Amino acid sequence: MFSLLFLTMLAMTTVNALPFRRFQTRVDAAGDLTPSTASENATAGCSQASSWQFDDTNHANITMGDRSFLVHIPANYDPTTPHALVVSFHGFKANAKKQEKISGLSERGLRLNGKGIVAVYPDGQFGPGKNGNESIRAWQGAPYSPPGVDDIAFTQQMVQQLSDNLCLDSNRFYASGKSNGGGFTNLLACTPATASLFAAFAPVSPALYAGANPADCNPGRPVPIINFHGLADKIIPFGGQDADRKGRTEYATPNITEYREAWANRNGCADITAKQAAAGDNLGFNAKVSHPHTDTTLKESACSASNLQAVVNGFTVKELGHSWPSTLGLDGGVTTFNATTANIMPFFDAHTLG
Ligand SMILES: *[C@@H]1O[C@H](CO)[C@@H](O)[C@H](O)[C@H]1NC(C)=O
Ligand SMILES: *[C@@H]1O[C@H](CO)[C@@H](O)[C@H](O)[C@H]1NC(C)=O
Ligand SMILES: *[C@@H]1O[C@H](CO)[C@@H](O)[C@H](O)[C@H]1NC(C)=O
Ligand SMILES: *[C@@H]1O[C@H](CO)[C@@H](O)[C@H](O)[C@H]1NC(C)=O
Ligand SMILES: *[C@@H]1O[C@H](CO)[C@@H](O)[C@H](O)[C@H]1NC(C)=O
Repeated sequence: MFSLLFLTMLAMTTVNALPFRRFQTRVDAAGDLTPSTASENATAGCSQASSWQFDDTNHANITMGDRSFLVHIPANYDPTTPHALVVSFHGFKANAKKQEKISGLSERGLRLNGKGIVAVYPDGQFGPGKNGNESIRAWQGAPYSPPGVDDIAFTQQMVQQLSDNLCLDSNRFYASGKSNGGGFTNLLACTPATASLFAAFAPVSPALYAGANPADCNPGRPVPIINFHGLADKIIPFGGQDADRKGRTEYATPNITEYREAWANRNGCADITAKQAAAGDNLGFNAKVSHPHTDTTLKESACSASNLQAVVNGFTVKELGHSWPSTLGLDGGVTTFNATTANIMPFFDAHTLG
């Protein structure tokens, strides 16, 4: 058991390109990043043949009715071994291919539960755009979403198809997304049927319009959330906005600090002790504050020991604009860390269903 854990940590350290000592310190400090030992739950695809064909880059573009999603299987994909699934939703005007690039989720070496991951990038439907007269891909929950499209139902159907055609571990399904796709990731976390389908959620620079961040967000369980937001984000400002530059109130978005606090409260992490209150700690919830990367502050909601699954990790990046943090600036902003490898993968590894 110990050696298995050690090997997993070693593997993650290699992927992160972080010195071992630093990674171990972070595990100790965070207290919630130990890989979960939950059992696997093999999907139907582990015991039946699939007709899906993957090309020599391990991609398949799957069509489902009028919808499509791009699937990437790891180089070491084994059709009899359950693999974790990470779904990643693109931003407004983007598409599956762009999301694959900016998230880096198809990069070699990414592992969950010690195995390569299946990464899936769905395409949004075409909506009317921000002026109402265009045809631009978007997800449910934004003022520019395609009217009448039920992306929650689409996501459930897509995951069903994936489960039937690939050997996946249904205790290790994860959702992530950028901007409009990050807002939709949040909507999935707020919706009971999908809050119980995915083990953890990574909304990155999420566009949290009211439709994506409903006031009556009732997931039905404590939901692990890892969120990144830049202080220099001009599209979805960190401090929130009452309307966009054109005065349209349907473009209102929340203050990101308050958004994180709302998740911590919802998850039952809000037991601010009298001692903290007396000490003038007005963080809003029991939080540990650290600086895991240059110009980056991490606030982790700290729940009771019996409720460690219910964490909210909020990364605030000082000079980052509206971008998925990446050392290569794959999404515009260059940061000293890769959000995917340094933080999202370890966070997902620590959270499972079942
Ligand atoms: C996948 O197929 C859909 C539907 O034919 C198409 O719109 C989309 O561009 C394709 N994506 C890729 C990455 O080839
Ligand atoms: C960051 O991710 C990119 C691909 O997404 C990769 O090429 C690069 O090596 C990574 N850097 C680090 C420090 O992990
Ligand atoms: C859409 O409407 C906006 C503002 O009303 C206008 O500036 C733009 O040119 C229009 N675009 C198209 C493609 O018609
Ligand atoms: C965001 O909310 C926090 C916590 O309530 C508050 O301290 C901060 O001033 C707010 N920021 C803005 C720009 O309103
Ligand atoms: C395995 O997954 C199925 C459906 O995907 C679920 O009904 C069942 O409760 C899961 N079992 C365990 C042990 O997690």
